[in-house]
Amino acid sequence: MYIVVGATGPVGLGGEICRQLRAAGQPVRALARSTANADRVADLTRIGVELVHGDLKIPRSLDEACRGIDTVISTASMMVSRQDADTVETVDATGQTDLVDAADTAGVRSFVYLSFSQHIDRDFPFRNAKRAVEQRLKRSRLAYTILRPTFLMEVWLSPIAGFDFAHAHARIYGHGRNPISWISMYDVARFAVLSLGAPVARNAAFELGGPEALSPLDVVRIFEEVGGRRFQLEFVSEEVLTEQQENAPDSLQRSLAGLSRCYAAGDVIDMTATLRSVPMALTSVRDYARRVLEGSKTV
Ligand SMILES: NC(=O)c1ccc[n+]([C@@H]2O[C@H](COP(=O)([O-])OP(=O)(O)OC[C@H]3O[C@@H](n4cnc5c(N)ncnc54)[C@H](OP(=O)(O)O)[C@@H]3O)[C@@H](O)[C@H]2O)c1
Repeated sequence: MYIVVGATGPVGLGGEICRQLRAAGQPVRALARSTANADRVADLTRIGVELVHGDLKIPRSLDEACRGIDTVISTASMMVSRQDADTVETVDATGQTDLVDAADTAGVRSFVYLSFSQHIDRDFPFRNAKRAVEQRLKRSRLAYTILRPTFLMEVWLSPIAGFDFAHAHARIYGHGRNPISWISMYDVARFAVLSLGAPVARNAAFELGGPEALSPLDVVRIFEEVGGRRFQLEFVSEEVLTEQQENAPDSLQRSLAGLSRCYAAGDVIDMTATLRSVPMALTSVRDYARRVLEGSKTV
């Protein structure tokens, strides 16, 4: 039995992992909070996912959730989907390490953890939480698989991060000329599922990127070609991002500014060796642009 922690969010990586596992006939449990989006919870139930109530801030609920589980897959984070008491510290740091401990104590065999690219490497609370959880996992008795994707198309090339393709308006962090190997969350989900039980993924970490490294300005050009509309650009300079990080009122704002500075610096990931051991097709930015621009016409 698998448990996915983080299956109810709006971006949907954990939910997509549940769908792919259920499509393969696998038994899946998902942790859901009472405040989770009702439609997304109903979608999970409809495809046969068993729900268990819990919260990363409540260690007792994690002990319950891990009972009878072979593999934990944790994609949860408070960066996009959060409730009042959720902070980087309570959810992404302590909550996730408590989940590792609960899984270890319950005799779970393996743990797949959604971290992020090693190049996202500035000193800010979210990055420090991700690396601390990785370390805790490596010290546990669990067989671990750490997934380190770079910037997700569905977040950083979407209105969540100011890339408002439906209105041909894009916010660019930095000067926009440093390349990033943007990856689709569907491909991250696919990779997570393919890694389950694969010998190559046992006690391993994978840097994950898409099929090509493109600068944000290259991405805008692709969206303009696919949609036939010129984009209006808004630049947030690295100086402004640095100032935002230094003067942020809380760890969330400090982390968002830190992440944006890493985007500004670029992140190129060569997938050649990884795809040799885990073969799969990767979504291009052009494919993503076609999908979301087609979808936005009907909104
Ligand atoms: N965005 C990127 O570019 C990027 C890049 C690399 C890696 N990642 C990682 O990818 C993962 C998946 O991200 P996503 O965008 O798919 O996330 P998402 O859609 O925002 O979903 C987040 C999930 O975490 C859950 N969660 C938050 N606080 C919780 C708590 N206290 N207890 C239990 N569950 C809690 C949410 O539950 P509710 O629905 O109840 O709020 C939701 O199910 C994250 O770990 C993220 O750091 C993202």
